[in-house]
This record gives sequence, structure tokens and C-alpha cells, in this order.
Amino acid sequence: MNDNKDEYIYDPETYRDWVKSYQERGDPLGWFEALYKGARGDHTKVFWADLQPNPYLLDWMMKHEANAAGKRAIAVGCGVGDDAEALSAHGYQVTAFDISPAAIDLCRQCYRESRVDYLVADLFAYPPAWREAYDLVYECNTIQVLPGAYRTRARDAMISLMAPGGNILVSCRSRNRGELTDAVPLPLDRDEIDGFRRAGNLEEVLFIAYDDDQEPPVPHFFACYRKPD
Ligand SMILES: C[S@@+](CC[C@H](N)C(=O)[O-])C[C@H]1O[C@@H](n2cnc3c(N)ncnc32)[C@H](O)[C@@H]1O
Repeated sequence: MNDNKDEYIYDPETYRDWVKSYQERGDPLGWFEALYKGARGDHTKVFWADLQPNPYLLDWMMKHEANAAGKRAIAVGCGVGDDAEALSAHGYQVTAFDISPAAIDLCRQCYRESRVDYLVADLFAYPPAWREAYDLVYECNTIQVLPGAYRTRARDAMISLMAPGGNILVSCRSRNRGELTDAVPLPLDRDEIDGFRRAGNLEEVLFIAYDDDQEPPVPHFFACYRKPD
């Protein structure tokens, strides 16, 4: 583990215990800033950043959102901003936020000419004007890095951002029920992702289960839910 507690440089040997140490002392949101600070201003050093947009997001936009012009999208826990930029390039008016100021600095530095509104904000205390304000809510890999009740709170907060008639895209690692119970990140099982449908009275309009191209492959879900008008 790094000696400097203000920053953390990723090490697969220590990562899980480092995250758990925050969770166990009741500060499960405290480590994100240290992780992004560990990139020292270089977005390519953020170990979970793919440095390209999620191909399932691109495919969804191409097939299901022919005309995004004038529509409002929000990227939750936007990290280094690749997916927010893809939403913007497709025509959405995009707000992208993250709890980590260092992450938002990386976005602004990396995408200097961006039309995306990058903001530091906490999903659990977002500005009231955001409530039910977005035609598209985009969640990629945030719930899976949260523990326990934070996961359902995060899901409900995401649903509350959706305008009537709006969609939410949920992209995450997946697992079979009862497996990997102590993992970091903790993937979502089918029942947990179905919680979006149940909690928000949402309609499931797309559900894909797939293995990514890592070695060994990591199972994922990509789903779209729609809020009634
Ligand atoms: C695993 S990363 C995923 C980043 C990005 N969405 C991606 O797919 O590369 C989870 C992100 O959620 C952010 N995050 C965690 N809790 C948050 C909260 N309460 N409000 C806003 N962002 C949060 C973290 O700082 C981190 O950037």
C-alpha cells in the first residue's frame, strides 16, 4: 500500500483490502478521490478507465436513439469522461458528475473543448434541480463499487434523475446469485439489477448478458429501463 494516504497507486495485491478498509470504517465513498489523485494528472493511469467509450453504449445509441438533439443526459460517476463525451458526440446535452474532484479535473484537462458540463457532485446529495430532469441517465460501474445499503440508495437516486418517459442505461459486471459475495468490485446479480424495474416501476426495454474480452472473460449486464410518461 502507498505511504501517502491522500493518494493511492493501483496495486492488484492490495486494492481489495484498501477498499475494504474504507468500507469497514464507515467511509465507503472516501477512497475514490485518493485513487484518482494517484493518477497524478494522467487519465491513462486510472486503472479502470477503458480510454474509449463503452461499445454497448455506442450500439444502443445507434440503434435506439436516432435523434438525441435537444435531449438531456446525465452520466453518473463519470470517471475520466469517455462515455460522457460519446453521449455528447451523439447529440445529447450532457451533464457528467463524479464525487471525486480529481476525476473531474482529469475530464476537464483531457477534453478541453468539451460541450459536456463536468461537475463535482455526490449522487446522494445532488442539486435539487436535477430531479426527474433527464431523458437519459447513464450508469456504468458505480453501484458495483459501493457496499450494502449504498447500492439500493444509489439505484433509487439514479431512478430519481429520470424524467417521465426517460430511459436509464445500466452497465455493470455481473455474477450468479450467491457467488463472489466478498468481491471488490461486487458485481450485480440478476435480482439486483431487476431492482431497477421493481423500485422505479420501470419497463425493461433491453437486457443483454455478455462476457467481455478480458482473459479470463468477465461477465457483464447491459440493460435499458424506461420510466412511464
Ligand atoms: C468504477 S468507477 C466507474 C467510472 C466510469 N463510470 C467508468 O465506467 O469508467 C465508479 C465511479 O463512481 C464515482 N462515484 C462513487 N460514488 C459516487 C457518488 N456517491 N456520487 C458520484 N460519483 C460517485 C467514483 O468516483 C468513480 O469515478
